[in-house]
Amino acid sequence: MTLLDVWLSRSIPMCLLLQSLVLMALCFPSASMCPKGCICLRDSHLHGLNVTCSHSRLKEIPPSLPIDTVLLRLDHNHIGAVPDQIFRGLRILRELNLSYNAIEHLEEAAFAGIEATLQLLDLSHNRITSVHKDAFSRLKARVIVNDNPWHCDCTLQQAISGMAHNHEAAARVLCRSSELLDQEGRPFLAVDTDLCNLAKRTTDYAMLVTMFGWFAMVISYVVYYVRQNQEDARRHLEYLKSLPSKPKKPDEADDISTVV
Ligand SMILES: *[C@@H]1O[C@H](CO)[C@@H](O)[C@H](O)[C@H]1NC(C)=O
Ligand SMILES: *[C@@H]1O[C@H](CO)[C@@H](O)[C@H](O)[C@H]1NC(C)=O
Repeated sequence: MTLLDVWLSRSIPMCLLLQSLVLMALCFPSASMCPKGCICLRDSHLHGLNVTCSHSRLKEIPPSLPIDTVLLRLDHNHIGAVPDQIFRGLRILRELNLSYNAIEHLEEAAFAGIEATLQLLDLSHNRITSVHKDAFSRLKARVIVNDNPWHCDCTLQQAISGMAHNHEAAARVLCRSSELLDQEGRPFLAVDTDLCNLAKRTTDYAMLVTMFGWFAMVISYVVYYVRQNQEDARRHLEYLKSLPSKPKKPDEADDISTVV
């Protein structure tokens, strides 16, 4: 084997490896690239990136945001949903502005992974009618939720009471629709009915009625059974009486007297 052979046998795999690495880098743009339609400014005060994607006609949240994003502005776009865990990995995200979009619903894991660092979350001027009851529960951030067509029900009540700064947020939640007609157009906080208890009371009544039904059935069965047995016992006794009398042992006589 010549020296050239040895060199070739080692360098060809190296070349292939390098080539595939370059291809991979091209296919999966690194997480720190600025998404299309956004401006990413490094800010020494922030110790991270100031990412602005406002007014960019975005239909969805860019999937690969720079991991050192501190401020993220996605306002004035056409974003309709916040996919589960979309912000996971943004370990130093402090402010998230999703105002003036078309979001309709928030799932439990919408803000998963950024609960500890996020300080401000603007969801105002969207189309949110409902959120999962735990969508905000782990967030420490101040949440802004005004100007959404809220549907006031038990789930919303649970979601709002799970917010750290729930009073301010709840004060600005207006019910566009509600389980109770007279609450439409009113601030959520002015709704003095416990909407969850209302639902609970309804199920309680249903439960009571069902239980009563079962109880009545059991009672009527017992009554029927006892009647039937009385009849049987009487017939049995008559049969015994009709038998030709023969000398009985004392204990047998006792038995019959107990039955009677
Ligand atoms: C972030 O960048 C935008 C422009 O892209 C600018 O208007 C804004 O003031 C910046 N915010 C901070 C806190 O530097
Ligand atoms: C979010 O963006 C909107 C639109 O630019 C702005 O009016 C609002 O003040 C921002 N929210 C926060 C909390 O800065």
